[in-house]
Amino acid sequence: MRTDSSPTTIYRKDYTPPAYLVDTVELGFDLAPASTVVANRITLRRNPDAAGSDIVLHGEEIELVQLRLNGQLLGEGDYELSAATLTIRNAPAEVVLEIETVCAPVENTSLSGLYVSNGNFFTQCEAEGFRRITFFPDRPDVMAKYTVMLRANKEQYPVLLSNGNLIEQGDLDDGRHYAKWEDPFKKPSYLFALVAAKLVCQEEQFKLADGRDVLLQVWVEDGNLDKTDYAMQSLKNSIRWDEERFGLELDLDRFMIVAVGDFNMGAMENKGLNIFNTKFVLANPRTATDIDFAGIEAVVGHEYFHNWTGNRVTCRDWFQLSLKEGLTVFRDQEFSADMIGTDTGRAVTRIDQVRTLRQAQFPEDAGPMSHPVRPDSFVEINNFYTVTVYEKGAEVVRMYQTLLGRDGFRKGMDLYFDRHDGQAVACDDFRAAMADANGRDLTQFERWYSQAGTPVVTARTRYDAVKRNFDIILSQRGKPGQLPFHIPVAVGLLGADGKDLPLTLEHGKHAKGATTLVLELTEQEQIFRFREVDERPTPSILRDFSAPVILEHDYTDDELLHLFNHDSDPVNRWEAGQRLAMERLLKLTAQVAAHGAANLKLDQTFINAMRTVLSDESLDPAFRELALILPSETIIAEQMDVVDPQAIHTARQFMRHTIGTVLKAELLAQYHANQTPGEYSPDAASAGKRALKNLCLSYLLAAPEAAELQLAQQQFDNATNMTDRSAALVSLIHSGTDNGPHLQAFYDDFANEALVVDKWFAMQASAPTTNVAAVRKLMQHPAFTLKNPNRARSLIFNFTNANPSQFHAADGSAYEFWAEFVIKLDAINPQVAARLARAMDRWRRYAPALQAKMKQALEKVAARQLSNDVAEVITKALA
Ligand code: ARG
Ligand code: ZN
Repeated sequence: MRTDSSPTTIYRKDYTPPAYLVDTVELGFDLAPASTVVANRITLRRNPDAAGSDIVLHGEEIELVQLRLNGQLLGEGDYELSAATLTIRNAPAEVVLEIETVCAPVENTSLSGLYVSNGNFFTQCEAEGFRRITFFPDRPDVMAKYTVMLRANKEQYPVLLSNGNLIEQGDLDDGRHYAKWEDPFKKPSYLFALVAAKLVCQEEQFKLADGRDVLLQVWVEDGNLDKTDYAMQSLKNSIRWDEERFGLELDLDRFMIVAVGDFNMGAMENKGLNIFNTKFVLANPRTATDIDFAGIEAVVGHEYFHNWTGNRVTCRDWFQLSLKEGLTVFRDQEFSADMIGTDTGRAVTRIDQVRTLRQAQFPEDAGPMSHPVRPDSFVEINNFYTVTVYEKGAEVVRMYQTLLGRDGFRKGMDLYFDRHDGQAVACDDFRAAMADANGRDLTQFERWYSQAGTPVVTARTRYDAVKRNFDIILSQRGKPGQLPFHIPVAVGLLGADGKDLPLTLEHGKHAKGATTLVLELTEQEQIFRFREVDERPTPSILRDFSAPVILEHDYTDDELLHLFNHDSDPVNRWEAGQRLAMERLLKLTAQVAAHGAANLKLDQTFINAMRTVLSDESLDPAFRELALILPSETIIAEQMDVVDPQAIHTARQFMRHTIGTVLKAELLAQYHANQTPGEYSPDAASAGKRALKNLCLSYLLAAPEAAELQLAQQQFDNATNMTDRSAALVSLIHSGTDNGPHLQAFYDDFANEALVVDKWFAMQASAPTTNVAAVRKLMQHPAFTLKNPNRARSLIFNFTNANPSQFHAADGSAYEFWAEFVIKLDAINPQVAARLARAMDRWRRYAPALQAKMKQALEKVAARQLSNDVAEVITKALA
């Protein structure tokens, strides 16, 4: 974990194939928390496509007991052992290695490799955790067949699981038992998993499209079986969806999901044995919100879809991570959209994706950790499980579909699997499959993988009333020195009546009467001419957010209002509202910074636009909710050259306060109109109503009088589901009134529900009324611990990342807090610590006084002995 030497950078260009391939792996585990013995028998042979006869095995934090090569016991002179590798030089062409090692799962607080959580054993091997279990060529281009024998005490660990099929199980001496598992598919080591635990399961036989019956299981701790229905339903929906949309079937006889309370990420797609953070499995109406339910559907889908995109076809090396992650995020996004099934439902999911990109990916790509979707180098691969690799990677995959159409995309997918099933491949192979299946040249598209940063697309327009031509002139710019991207720009034109005009593009091939066309911007600048345009139209550019770019266009307020009221593309309709709001937020922020908070004004035009959309009952409530949310403080900050977090907060609060006051009657009316009486259901329509209702409540509580406070208190007291209960509590906390009794009541009700206690910490940490002293006080709460990642994130990350006006307190006290906990967490769990370290990414953009204090905090961390994970983040921030 710790390095004394300075961390080494690994480069994509240095990739070489492995000298030896592994055919079979037989693993034997004698599981005990303090000392687990691992017997590993692997058959290797020289790789015909590589040079050399040295066998290099990775190994970390494990103790070598014994090593045999082709039956011969090796002595210390026969191999080289370093802190990270075991090398056998000049090995024969065919080798059987028998390796015995010992590890200490109970000491493993990094949650990478084999570890103990609440007394049970779990593994997490992606990216490089398998080497913490046994010596192995722990790289994804080494794929082998695994047989696993698990032995453990039967009473303590009644359930013994691993990948693939259960072959045999039985009792042993001394109260122990065993289970033998065999995975029929070749896999890289990062997909290995085992679970030895006291768990119970919900299970079900399920019929695949081809008629085969498979066993589906969701494993949880006793007492949580009342929270597994939605995960099981989501799994069944995922299986069906992949059959129907991509013709991909489950290739195993059994598929297991296991929930664990201590987990670094969301979930992991181990072959046939997905291991999940409890957050993405456990839900019932009492404990989980609509957003939690949606998260479970998405993550269950995501991990299931990895079975083809990731497992059957995997990555050649970790630089290709987006090959599986970008593609699988795209697939889970499409799955979630199809589960809603309506056009606006689909648009609502798309708007959520755009918000995530702006909130997290654009800032990442503009900061010190900026990297291409396919990075060129890294120090610690765990630092590259990023919004860029995942979410921007998904945008890149989506652009293939936008350019090739759904059918063309499907053809590309089919060819990808025809060519590469069972292989470890690169992003270029995916691009080639898309191009070849459609007879398209996608050479230039490669730049989306190699060039970092968010391109800016500028649109200018001109109308020639005599010739009836309307020109859209698009130009693009990336980072200095970059070459033009291949950018699909979906465009429509609105007439004065708000209706779409039929489009006739000069030199274009397209269906007659089409109202949205995808323009392909490939040059630095291009002119697109529309003919037979009878009136000057309002252009709707980048419909459905057809590319992950920043679009610049000098819209007038009138044009934006026209789009906001009429655009047939809901994403651009929403976008017009965001532009209207952003203009005002930036002006107000500048005014606060220059003259203070007195005399701020919000124009009637904007308020009327908000009023209209709020009360337009022909619009989907979920859409109305999104249209009424102001851009976040983080997104506003990204628009400013010098960020003033207090001024942003004041300006945004002023706008919320004004909307809450001026539109009080309409907000109340919609609050009451969007109740969801009767039994709770997490379906999109009901969730959309609750979202709108609860947004109304939060506006009403931005400027609360007794009646509004009472409304929130009533909702809190009477709510029958967590969505309404937590929304009421959040609104109350944010209103700044004393909520000690409500917080206590909520805690008392849910003290035994870890995921709800996480919410309890999170909602306090992110409230603008909570300062760093209050956070430190919350840390003294008996339920707080740094060792559980969900808990640490709930309090610390929500403060540093979701409470900007307090995190950037002028005295720098929160920066000191940040430094202290990056250091403390690093000693426990470097992956989690490195995520926290990223909270300072954008430090150079703040006013000089804040910048100096942030730099001090960064330097304080830099001065310590750090994990590679944190060292990489801090070094890049200070570079
Ligand atoms: N492949 C997993 C998922 O997306 C993520 C695992 C990442 N683990 C890590 N330690 N970086 O679906
Ligand atoms: Zn994934």
